[in-house]
Amino acid sequence: MTSETWRVGVLFSTSGITAAVERTQRNATLLAIEQINANGGIDGRLIEPIAYNPGSDPKQYRDQAELLCDQHKVSVIFGCYMSSSRKAALPIIEARGALLFYPTLYEGFEYSPHCIYTGPAPNQNSVQLVNYVSQKFGNRIAMIGSNYVYPYESNRVIADLFTQTGGRVLHEQYVPLTATADVFARIIEQVAKLQPDAIYSTVVGDGIALFYQAYRAAGLDPATMPIISLSTSEAEVAQMAPGTAVGHITASPYFEGLRTPQSEAFVAAYRARFGADARITACAEAAYFQVYLYALGVARAQTDRFALLLPHLHDLEFDAPQGRVKIDGATNHTHVWSRVGQVNAQGLFDVVDEPGVRVAPDPYMLKYSLDAETPLAVRLNFQPMGS
Ligand code: ACM
Repeated sequence: MTSETWRVGVLFSTSGITAAVERTQRNATLLAIEQINANGGIDGRLIEPIAYNPGSDPKQYRDQAELLCDQHKVSVIFGCYMSSSRKAALPIIEARGALLFYPTLYEGFEYSPHCIYTGPAPNQNSVQLVNYVSQKFGNRIAMIGSNYVYPYESNRVIADLFTQTGGRVLHEQYVPLTATADVFARIIEQVAKLQPDAIYSTVVGDGIALFYQAYRAAGLDPATMPIISLSTSEAEVAQMAPGTAVGHITASPYFEGLRTPQSEAFVAAYRARFGADARITACAEAAYFQVYLYALGVARAQTDRFALLLPHLHDLEFDAPQGRVKIDGATNHTHVWSRVGQVNAQGLFDVVDEPGVRVAPDPYMLKYSLDAETPLAVRLNFQPMGS
């Protein structure tokens, strides 16, 4: 063991609007680092995390990325949840020749050689969500989102997909990240009058609990008009009064209750480290497995310098809690699994749709269509394992 370390930056918020989910990402990152270090680190060198709290503020992500690169001399950063923070930090990371590992679902239509995207792109969650919801509930949709880039762009994709199934958008509205309970109550009242088949929510952070609580207070029924989402996770459901979100739908590569040996080991280790009540999310799962991919890549490259490390990350596979994942060499995105979940009385998700296949990333949605003539396997870009 040498005293030299692999120094990495960790940029997840423990305060501010998205702290609930980002705390799970930070915890999972530190857990993976601790596990790898307990097994001797990477080739006898420990990983040394330098963690900051950017307070859910994009400007702080940028400033702290700069600090990590310029003062702490890291060449790899694990971090970011909101796309606004990724877009704020990435130009700094690119200019310094560093690499960001980004473990969050996002809107797609982006590629940076300096970013490894380990959350799902729209073809890996939105297509599956629309496919499920249009068959089960219908395709007349209202869309409510927070006022920043991910909701605008995700709504564009979701609207396209529902339109391809013959549906339409009845309402589209954006609220500030700091919107209060009365704002959500008024929106719910307005939307309920339109009687959509589902309400697509791209609300993020603390507003999620307020939005679902407003829905519940209005006496609406998820069996006929669920809130459907990609960004509502176990962490935000835990912020609500018990039972508030029961019956609502999220599409995601991973849910906390998944019964695979890798998932059960991850959940047990996370609980042992962070408490029996700690909630685990898909964003945490991606934050966890991406550290292992980084470690495998550094072990192969024998360096963490960007230009030498990147080729060793491409096509790298790992048995993650969600299933075996792989970094795509063409796009820097990740092959991930596709699932649709429904919130149960425990505040966890029951998987209600699971094709059981890994989906190749297609961040620019080049191959997609939900029209009836396209076979399902083609629509979802399923690829056999090992391809
Ligand atoms: C997000 O902003 N990518 C959730």
